Amino acid sequence: MSVWAVLAAAGSGERLGADRPKAFVRLGERVLLAESLERLDASDWVDAIVVAAPPGWEEPVILLAEELGCGKVSACVAGGPSRGESVRLALGEVPDDAAVVLVHDAARPFVEDGVIARVLAALNEGWDGAVPVLPVADTVKRVDGERVVETLDRSELRVAQTPQAFVASVLRDAFSGDVSSATDCASLVEARGGRVKAVPGDERLVKVTDASDLERAAALL
Ligand code: C5P
Repeated sequence: MSVWAVLAAAGSGERLGADRPKAFVRLGERVLLAESLERLDASDWVDAIVVAAPPGWEEPVILLAEELGCGKVSACVAGGPSRGESVRLALGEVPDDAAVVLVHDAARPFVEDGVIARVLAALNEGWDGAVPVLPVADTVKRVDGERVVETLDRSELRVAQTPQAFVASVLRDAFSGDVSSATDCASLVEARGGRVKAVPGDERLVKVTDASDLERAAALL
């Protein structure tokens, strides 16, 4: 079973307020992208990697991969205007005979083999896809402007992380329509009736969105 990883790293990172795309902000001694790229490359579960780079930053991504000795990087594409478009463009570089696609956000630097093994195991059980999730600690409200409309039953809610794994053909089908507003891949598969398993996520899979997240992530190095 060949597992291809798509690494979505094309975000602008506006909310970080940096002078460069999020993938290239510093996390400790290196750039943010180095962490997830090196970890995916080192994983025995992953056969090859396609990176969606910030447009215009394809060459720095390739140089970084070379510098880190990431020999599994097979292609680097310029990302699109949304996460969904970036993943779609990267999927175009995944060969037809790939069995499984693992999609990961470079914004979550600390991806580990444990969570990769859990999402892949779900596919072996016959699921179309798998998503790592965490329980919701806070009470969650649905609002309409300033007015609270509803309080949701948090026991039914989960926070979704990446890496998410999919049967390659299922993911390709899910990406055949409009993907511009999708914030993850599983939502597209679910919308087409695909069976997606929720597996235990990882507290260390923090997502870097703003400067305080970057400090939090640096403390985990
Ligand atoms: O913007 P956000 O942090 O939610 O993005 C999640 C992931 O998707 C990040 O790793 C980011 O680099 C990636 N992304 C992308 N192309 C975009 C927007 C986001 O690859 N146009």
